[in-house]
Amino acid sequence: MKHETIEKNIGLMALFMTIAVSIGGLTQIVPLFFQDVVNKPVEGMKPYTALQLEGRDIFIREGCVSCHSQMVRPFRAETERYGHYSVAGESVWDHPFLWGSKRTGPDLARVGGRYSDDWHRAHLYNPRNVVPESKMPSYPWLVEGKLDGKLTAKKMETMRTLGVPYTDEDIAGAKEAVQGKSEMDALVSYLQVLGTSIKTKR
Ligand code: HEC
Repeated sequence: MKHETIEKNIGLMALFMTIAVSIGGLTQIVPLFFQDVVNKPVEGMKPYTALQLEGRDIFIREGCVSCHSQMVRPFRAETERYGHYSVAGESVWDHPFLWGSKRTGPDLARVGGRYSDDWHRAHLYNPRNVVPESKMPSYPWLVEGKLDGKLTAKKMETMRTLGVPYTDEDIAGAKEAVQGKSEMDALVSYLQVLGTSIKTKR
């Protein structure tokens, strides 16, 4: 086939362009499905406890991800500030992942252990309590909201079908583990575990 034929036929041109671009894309994407570094959890990582999993759902419900990313990029300015950059193995059990793309507030990928539980409670109740210049919204209702644990076991079962290694015991004890706890308890316990499966300098 003459080159001219392809150049003068837009349909054919589009077809060949699609093939060319697909080859480029596939050679980059397909190998990732088979690489341990992106599929395997980092060593020693534990699945979220029932309470942390509920806290994560509150994080999603309240839209925290619209101001906070959970992804430390491998640049010096970021690792100096937040600690070790994020690795794929930390997110393999996150469904859906919450990497985010907007940073009105700081990245939270390594916030676990940085502050006390009391600091988080005071901060979430009203950020101005501890950071006078903060423009983060207040979440006072989290103290009143109580978990009934009705769906916790179901959520964990669903996570298990997606590959999170919950045991039958974890699931059987889920309701009891969260029942009567406040939404604040759950959210704080989630924040405190973020990024702790990798040892960091900070
Ligand atoms: C409108 C944007 C916005 C939203 C929504 C938001 N935050 Fe923030 N957040 C900020 C800003 C700005 C800061 C920095 C000032 C401060 O510490 O209060 C911050 C700081 C933080 C910090 C301290 C981080 C650090 O390393 O010092 C935590 C933890 C946090 N937010 C958690 C949350 C959680 C949990 C939610 C959802 C319930 C949330 N934020 C929702 C803007 C936001």
